[in-house]
Amino acid sequence: MVKRIVVVGSGQLGTALATIGGANVSLVDRAALDITDLAAIEPALSELAPDVVINASAYNRVDAAETDPDLAFAVNATGPAYLARAATALEARFVHVSTDYVFGGTQQRPYCEDDPTEPLGVYAASKLAGEHLALAYAPTSLVVRTSGVFGRTRSGTGGNFVLSILRQARAGKPLRVVADKIAAPTYAVDLARAILSLVAVGASGRVHITNSGCCTWYEFACAILEEAGIDAAIEPVSYSGTADVARRPLYSVLDLSRLESLGVTMPHWRDGLRRYLQEIEV
Ligand SMILES: NC(=O)c1ccc[n+]([C@@H]2O[C@H](COP(=O)([O-])OP(=O)(O)OC[C@H]3O[C@@H](n4cnc5c(N)ncnc54)[C@H](OP(=O)(O)O)[C@@H]3O)[C@@H](O)[C@H]2O)c1
Repeated sequence: MVKRIVVVGSGQLGTALATIGGANVSLVDRAALDITDLAAIEPALSELAPDVVINASAYNRVDAAETDPDLAFAVNATGPAYLARAATALEARFVHVSTDYVFGGTQQRPYCEDDPTEPLGVYAASKLAGEHLALAYAPTSLVVRTSGVFGRTRSGTGGNFVLSILRQARAGKPLRVVADKIAAPTYAVDLARAILSLVAVGASGRVHITNSGCCTWYEFACAILEEAGIDAAIEPVSYSGTADVARRPLYSVLDLSRLESLGVTMPHWRDGLRRYLQEIEV
């Protein structure tokens, strides 16, 4: 039977879920529902009679979270708890999305779902709290961890690493990019498709979803310029020299074995990048 899916949050992932899911998906943006507003959640969701509720909203400003922990925890931890509780009350499955930043980054191999977590900052801690609360209030939740998301936003106003590199290169600004921090960039459309596949097979618990392969942010930036046909120099720099306020994991590649055992194979990040550049007509 076709499932009625409510997606809360209209950023990169929410927009991609609405595009891929088509008529099965109702996209609810922040103007329609603020997930920190407990009283508003159950009425808003029950009106849409969902079989599945996917939380694609988040407070993603990693550095700003260090000085605004109340808002980071309200959106990334308490909000998901409210959504999970409401989904359970409506007998809907809950899907929550988390981050590679729950890990400390000292491991030498990709992180599995059960590896010990070690959040290095407020954003990471708030996302980890959100995972625990989602599973506490809705024990059959699917909790997806992903990394380095790039995609289109509904409003067209959102930013991501790809757009930022393109913007700086076109403006002739000097490009300096970290060459000792490794992760898997992930195209929002590929992430959305994988989440909907997991929803279709009724997967629950924690599952890692990223594009396959991995790279340093410097390698990713070089690939962006190559694929876009822009000739600009990029200086590789060390992470220790950046102005980041929050600490981030140096290595946060996620192991995809569990995802693959559930029947989902991910395209390589470079393939995702090419399709994203086509989508935004670069
Ligand atoms: N982006 C990444 O690189 C990355 C990496 C790892 C994990 N993730 C996770 O992946 C998921 C999807 O991320 P994304 O890249 O799609 O994020 P995004 O583009 O920043 O979208 C987040 C959305 O959440 C909305 N939102 C913020 N506060 C809200 C509230 N109180 N109530 C309702 N909506 C609210 C935002 O609305 P406004 O536009 O109005 O602010 C925005 O539309 C998130 O869980 C994120 O933590 C992302």
